[in-house]
Amino acid sequence: MTTGARVPLIAGNWKMNLDHLQSIAFVQKLAWSLKDARHDFAAVEVAIFPPFTDLRSVQTLIAADKLDLHYGGQDVSEHVSGAYTGEISATFLRALDCGYVIVGHSERRTLHHETDEKVAAKVAAAVTAGLVPVLCVGETAEDLELHGPSAVPVAQLRAGIAGLTAGVELVVAYEPVWAIGSGQAATPEQAQQVAAALRATLAEVLGQETADAARILYGGSVKAGNIAGFMRQTDVDGALVGGASLDLAEFSRIAQFPKHVGT
Ligand code: PGA
Repeated sequence: MTTGARVPLIAGNWKMNLDHLQSIAFVQKLAWSLKDARHDFAAVEVAIFPPFTDLRSVQTLIAADKLDLHYGGQDVSEHVSGAYTGEISATFLRALDCGYVIVGHSERRTLHHETDEKVAAKVAAAVTAGLVPVLCVGETAEDLELHGPSAVPVAQLRAGIAGLTAGVELVVAYEPVWAIGSGQAATPEQAQQVAAALRATLAEVLGQETADAARILYGGSVKAGNIAGFMRQTDVDGALVGGASLDLAEFSRIAQFPKHVGT
């Protein structure tokens, strides 16, 4: 697990689930559940990534109730403004007090044909607007067979951070495509191996200090039952959780991993 200054981040990617009314109920219950469990928000940061249409409701609730939850968008336009029907600008997300934005999720790379160049432009747009990008990288089962575990994620990272400079705050999510939604998570050792290679790449491109401060998450079939194994790894600083983030009790248990990480 994280040593030194890196605060672990447990992030819930809701994908296209929960409308704005459902999101209010969910966030309220999540806050209660974590409060009941005496969750230490300074020790483990918890963030949710709802659909765009929920963000204003989530912002209002979190601000009104002074909840210690963070949130962000699931995607962002590479453009600041203009004639881009349907796109959402990083500035607008920032105006809703989003702290983060997911960029380059494998579903967007695959189903929406997002290239490394497009992902890099989105990362740059997010940083310019003051958002922390959660840059997703990961190999398919075929990539794994052909190139080994680190080659594709490292290449995606290198391309994605091309427009950034030292000192930038960054979250990288290593999500093997074969592990997403499959129930078949990577092993903690596999996650550590790739996370270490990603951190070395960050150090090479952006300098050691930026690399040491960046948080690297593992994602892909994370559950309460397997989070501890990932969090014991030196270079894994948290998790990007899909399916299990929609199950309140399960997500709350994942966020409380320090209670079972030592067992
Ligand atoms: P999963 O999804 O936890 O359902 O595998 C992870 C993700 O897509 O971010």
